Formats: sequence, C-alpha cells, structure tokens
Amino acid sequence: MAEKEVIETSEAQIAVHWKEEGYYYPSTDFIAQANMSCESVYDRFSLDNFPNCFKEYADLLDWDEYWHTILDTSDAPCWKWFVGGKINASYNCVDRHLAKNKNKTAIHYVPEPLDEKYEHITYQELYVRVNEMAALLRDFGGLKAGDRVTLHLPMGPELPITMLACARLGVIHSQVFGGFSGKAAADRVVDSGSNILITQDAYYRSGKLLDHKKKSDEAVALAAKEGQKVDKVLVWQRYPGKYSAATPMVDGRDYFVNDVLKDYYGKRIDPVPMNAEDPLFLMYTSGTTGKPKGCQHSIGGYLAYVAGTSKYVQDIHPEDVYWCMADIGWITGHSYIVYGPLALCASTVIYEGVPTYPDAGRSWRIAQDLDVNIFHTAPTAIRALRKLGPDEPAKYDYQFKHMTTVGEPIEPEVWKWYHKEVGKGKAIIVDTWWQTETGGFLCSTLPAIKPMKPGSAGPGMPGIHPIIYDDEGKELPRGAGIAGNICIQNPWPGAFQTIWGDRDRFVDTYYARYCKDPNSKNWQDWPYLTGDAAVEAEDGYYRILGRIDDVINVSGHRLGTKEIESAALVAVEVAEAAVVPMKHEIKGVEPDLYVSLKPGYEASDELAKKISGVIVEEIGAIARPRNVWIVPDMPKTRSGKIMRRVLGAISNKTNVGDVMTLANPEIVTEVTKMVQG
Ligand code: PRX
Repeated sequence: MAEKEVIETSEAQIAVHWKEEGYYYPSTDFIAQANMSCESVYDRFSLDNFPNCFKEYADLLDWDEYWHTILDTSDAPCWKWFVGGKINASYNCVDRHLAKNKNKTAIHYVPEPLDEKYEHITYQELYVRVNEMAALLRDFGGLKAGDRVTLHLPMGPELPITMLACARLGVIHSQVFGGFSGKAAADRVVDSGSNILITQDAYYRSGKLLDHKKKSDEAVALAAKEGQKVDKVLVWQRYPGKYSAATPMVDGRDYFVNDVLKDYYGKRIDPVPMNAEDPLFLMYTSGTTGKPKGCQHSIGGYLAYVAGTSKYVQDIHPEDVYWCMADIGWITGHSYIVYGPLALCASTVIYEGVPTYPDAGRSWRIAQDLDVNIFHTAPTAIRALRKLGPDEPAKYDYQFKHMTTVGEPIEPEVWKWYHKEVGKGKAIIVDTWWQTETGGFLCSTLPAIKPMKPGSAGPGMPGIHPIIYDDEGKELPRGAGIAGNICIQNPWPGAFQTIWGDRDRFVDTYYARYCKDPNSKNWQDWPYLTGDAAVEAEDGYYRILGRIDDVINVSGHRLGTKEIESAALVAVEVAEAAVVPMKHEIKGVEPDLYVSLKPGYEASDELAKKISGVIVEEIGAIARPRNVWIVPDMPKTRSGKIMRRVLGAISNKTNVGDVMTLANPEIVTEVTKMVQG
C-alpha cells in the first residue's frame, strides 16, 4: 500500500488538479478528408458486436490463408486472434505495395548532422534491402522461424530494415532501445535466448558521434556469464565502409553487415507464411520487479490493430508525410513508425537525433523540408520545444493537419501551446493512451468524430471497452469523475499474448486482480488491468492520472523504481535503496534516489557519483537519478517496510503526512533537513 501511495500522490496529483477543459472541434476541412468520419463506427464496434467487429481491421491486411476463428479463448487469458490465418508482416509492409507504389518513398531518413543529406528510400529500395538482409540473416546468421534475435540499434533505416528482414523469415526480433546500456541489452539477450546480436558502430546524439559498438562487447560478456552465448555480433556501420567506433572488432565473432551483405546482393527471399498467432517481436518493458518483462506480440492480431489504428486515428492517407518522433526502440516506434504506417503504404520519417539539436527550430525545419503534415510526439518533447523556442514554429513554412501526443498526461497549458503554435491553430490533436503491452491505442478521440479536450485522452477506441474499478473490485459508475483503476473489459487483437517465458507472471500481473473466475474460458471474466489510475468524465472521456504500481515515467520512458533500486544495490557499499519520482518541468518526473550504506562505509560525494554511475551502466542514462541522497537510515514502518511515500514527499517538498506510526519518526526530520536544507 505504501508503495502504491507514493505514485498516486505524485503523478496523480499533477493531473487531478486540472479542471475539466472545454472542447476543441475539428475543422470542416479535416472532417471532409478523414478516413473515418462516420459515427456509426462506435455501433459497429460495440460490445454486442464483439469480437466480429475486428474483421474490419483484419481485412486491411493481405492473408496467405484467411483465418477461420476470429477469437479463440480456450487458453484464457492468452487470447488467440484470427486463428487458422497465415500471414507475413514483411510482405504486408513491403511487397504488397510494389505493384502500385514501388516508386513512393517508404522512409525519409534525416541524419542529425546538418551537413548530411536526407535519404529517401522507396518501397522498391526497401524491398531490395529487406530481402538482402533476410538472406544474410538466414544463410549467414543461420536464423529460422521462431528464433529470437536481439537488436540494439539506434535510429536509422537499418533498424526497420532489420526488423522487416526478421519478420520476413518469421524470426522474432527483440529491439533494445539504443540509449540502454550493454547490461540492459545483456539481460534481454539472456531472457530471449538470442545467439545473434545486431548493433551499429556509432550514431549521433546532440552533435556527438557516440561509440555504440562497445555496448555490444559488454552485452556479450555479461550474457556469457549468465550462460547465454552470442555466436555472432552483426555490426551495421553509420558510414558504410568506414568504422566509426574505437572498440575493436572481435575476430570470428563480429562482422560488418555492409561487407557480408555483398554476398547477398540481388537475393530474394520468399516471405514465410506464418500463423497469425505466431510471435512477431518481443518488447521489454519495466514492471514492479527489477526484471523487465518481454511483452510478446503476435503477427496477425498486432499488425491488424496497428494498421487499423494508424488508418483511423493517425488518419494516414497515401499523399501524407508522417513523422513520429519517438524512438523505434519503444513500442510507439514499432507500432507507429514502422508496422502501422508501412502496412498502409505511408511515407514515414525517421530522425536520428535530438529534436532540439542544434537549436529549437530543428524539428520545424525538418517538417518544412519534408512537407510533413502528420506529427506525433510526447509531452516531454513538447515541453522541451516550448521552453527552448516558444515562437519557433511560426518561423517555418509547414502545416500539420494532425498531431499526436502520447506517453504521459499532458498539462492543458502545454496542450494549448502545441495546438496554437505547433499546430498553428489548425491541426487536430489526438491524445492517445496505451502501453507497451497493448500494442496500439486504448483511448483516444477519433479525430473527425469526437472533439478534443485538453488533458483528456478521450473515450475508449472503437472495440475497446474500459471500465474503472475501485480497490475493492467494485465497478465505479460510468462518468462518475472518481479516480479508480482503469481496466479493459474485453480482449483486442493488438494486445500482447504473454510475457516471454513467464505465463504465470503475465496472468498475475494483468489479470489476477479483477478476474471473476480463474477457471473461466469466457473473456467476460478476465478484465485486463492496465496499472493506471483514471477518471471518466460525464462525457465518457478518460483522463489518465498515472501509474498505480511502482512504475515511473521519465521523459515518457517507462522505468521501474525497483529496477533502479536493484541497479543501485550493485554498488557494494549500498545496503538499501529507494527510488521516488520527483517532479521535473520537462521530463515529467525524474528518479530521486535514497540509499543507506552497509556498516563500515562513509558517505561522500564520490560515493554518490559512483552509485549514480552504476545505475547508468546497469540501465542507461535515462535512469540517472536527480540526486543520490546517502541517508543514515530509511524511514520505515514497524514491520520494516521503507516508506517511499514519505521520501517522495520530502523530494517534492510536499506534506509528509502523519509519520508518528513509523518505527523511526526522528529520521524524517533528519532526512528532510538534508534534502531541503
Ligand atoms: O501510465 C501510462 C502512460 O504510459 C504508460 C505506458 O508506458 P509505455 O508502456 O512505455 O508506453 C508508452 C507509449 C504508449 C501508461 O501505463 N501513458 C501512455 N500514454 C499516455 C499515458 N498517460 C497519459 N496519457 C497518455 N496519452
């Protein structure tokens, strides 16, 4: 309970104090061109028509063999969609577009350095490169359908090319966010059982060419310690033909993809027809324990869901230029840079670097250069762009018709700046609420049908039926405006299938809490627990308040407090560690770390720095704590539980509440003095 409270009193507080805002309406021009403008979609996707409504999404795809059973619940709550169907994701994202659109740009790639030219990869070129890479993976890598391969790639066209090459063979890719450490990559290599790691030598971030290859050496060494041998490290080069990392290549283990590819030039690989419910990829995400969970996404259900939502929520048309600024190493990039847009034959933009590099106008210049008209980003980026260049967008000649915000609650004032300045008062905004686990959007307005309301995600998507329970499992009345635990009543095709290798954890984490009958094979008995708190307003719009578990959202990136704590414990001096979310103007929250030391160790600035460094090494720079407070003791309950709620209040300078029942109330004063001065 104590651990739950700390999140509720931090993230939830931010949102709860927003008042309900008025509506903003889409323009008639937008409505006239929208892919979905008919209100009847909500009837078609009502619970009465569940699950057959999702045929509409499946029919956006090309099937090698059409499915016979739309939803199989026999292994509840591991739902199977489109059973009997055979399909290939690479075929659907590439080959099927060639007949009409082979000359169309599939990927616009924008390198970070200003003196490097944009690349425009046509669907034909993508087809050639995906085939050659698939041939390499099969014949040189020895990979076949069902094998897992770990990718640790930065933002560049090589990443989707590698993903689609895997998908062509039925190989399950597991892409690790490029900013994560070698250790984080190692954990994922081990958990997924990958014996090939695909990386890149270097990439640009804020003007610096970073050595990325060295992380793969760490990953391979650490994985070996855990008993997982990596046989080959395949290294893409940032500049083909030139090695840009300082770390040496290891003979007989490391290979330059560009060199090996020469043996496969011109090779064509038939897309392997896979079962709809075979896994397409794993995406690891943070949870309540130190160990990230490998969310397993299916081919047919996932692809149908991201294609459908890209079409109807992102409103992508053939002539649009679509830029989602997320990193492909997160689920947003998988679903809404790669699979959704490419399934629709869109032109999708990939930007290598930092949105504000070298200045606050960069993003808007890219938009102008490429004539981007659909833009997709997160509140943390919007806050940064607003802070650094509130008047920049007006200086550039671009016009968005559509914008997305995703990843964390957006403050209404930030929303209004986004609308007025970035959208120039004309673009519609969708606030899409969803998760790594859910594959695609759960709540959002349908842009031509429902008006926008700053700070609210909107109603459930067609076919997604949210429900809010209180802690006792009682359903809150619809539109009550009371905070509770938001769940989804029904399965949907985009939902992950299980946690890789840990079905029990899957059932426990997401379904056990509100399950009506653990032996039931009816989906009605298995509401999906999202782990978020939310309120539903009278109009049926949901406002997401934040996590109810030990997950925090740093710059829209999901981190488990337990994950950071266990990283801190890697430092030999540390006896106990507690992480609390601390409010931050741009990032939303930052982790603030409290540690107590083992006997015989002394607090010092060097030690604090060392502990911070250990965390960066274990997880990555995004987990770097704001402060490392070395305290004489943690505030604890009489049963010995660390009171994170109290530490959270101290970090955020809010009321610590009643502490007299603690085992050591005096420590609260001492720690407060240390932190607040
Ligand atoms: O707390 C919610 C928040 O981000 C969590 C999911 O994080 P992740 O799996 O990394 O996926 C992020 C991209 C989908 C959710 O449990 N979240 C996501 N979108 C929103 C949001 N909170 C408020 N509003 C959103 N639009």
